[in-house]
Amino acid sequence: MSTPAQYLLETQNLELAYGAFHAVNGVNLKVEAGTIHTIIGPNGAGKTSLFHCLTGERQATAGAIRFNGQNIIKKPAHGRVGLGMARSFQLTSLFQNLSVRENLRLAAQGRDGLGALNFWRHVDSRREHLEVADQVLERLQLTARAQTLAGELSHGQQRVLEVGMSICSKPQLLMLDEPTSGMGIDDIPIMTQLISDLGRDHTVLLIEHNMSIVMSISQRITVMSHGQILVEGTPDVVRADERVRVAYLGEAA
Ligand SMILES: Nc1ncnc2c1ncn2[C@@H]1O[C@H](COP(=O)(O)OP(=O)(O)OP(=O)(O)O)[C@@H](O)[C@H]1O
Ligand SMILES: [Mg+2]
Repeated sequence: MSTPAQYLLETQNLELAYGAFHAVNGVNLKVEAGTIHTIIGPNGAGKTSLFHCLTGERQATAGAIRFNGQNIIKKPAHGRVGLGMARSFQLTSLFQNLSVRENLRLAAQGRDGLGALNFWRHVDSRREHLEVADQVLERLQLTARAQTLAGELSHGQQRVLEVGMSICSKPQLLMLDEPTSGMGIDDIPIMTQLISDLGRDHTVLLIEHNMSIVMSISQRITVMSHGQILVEGTPDVVRADERVRVAYLGEAA
């Protein structure tokens, strides 16, 4: 029997090259199960590129990615979803003309693949999907808006719904790239609370620029700069590290 993996997600010397330029340049990331692990770093540091490699949206040009101990580097994006990795949907993937509940039901259905085509199984699963949708609605505190068209929600609520859709597949690992971007100041506490709440039963890998959110909800922080890991540690360690301050100052200069 193989020993269980120490980390839920681990990369080894991961690289993503765009031509001669290495956006991700030898990253060894270690994400412990059950944590909210946040990646920060100046614009262009390679955070989104790293996510693209993890989700399979782009093929890493070198290195390994282990999820639950299994090297998934060759798996296509949908195969990674099947293993329990999910990334937040983008606004464009919301069905603006369907209700909030229907959007969630469809997201819950998405994880079943072709099995959902069998009629009797279909009746049963439809009920299950609605149950998942209703649980997620409560979690998002959107139960009162269940029948509202997604397109009529505020921008902030639409972003909350996006995150909700990604948890309908019951992933082990949830990857969120700047979930608060473009959100009004009034909606930010709702998203912060939601991510913190999701951290109780998912492992969350988050990219976020808002430092007060990062420092308040993360157990671990990885700071990236120029495609590499600059510093890794708890919020206190990262806050006190001079190299982090210099990296951000360099961006402003
Ligand atoms: N398709 C591409 N082709 C060439 N270069 C790219 C491509 N996508 C990103 N880059 C470059 O790779 C580097 C890293 O970009 P990336 O989007 O990963 O940064 P980031 O850390 O997510 O930044 P931000 O905080 O602004 O979102 C940048 O220099 C960017 O210009
Ligand atoms: Mg980015």
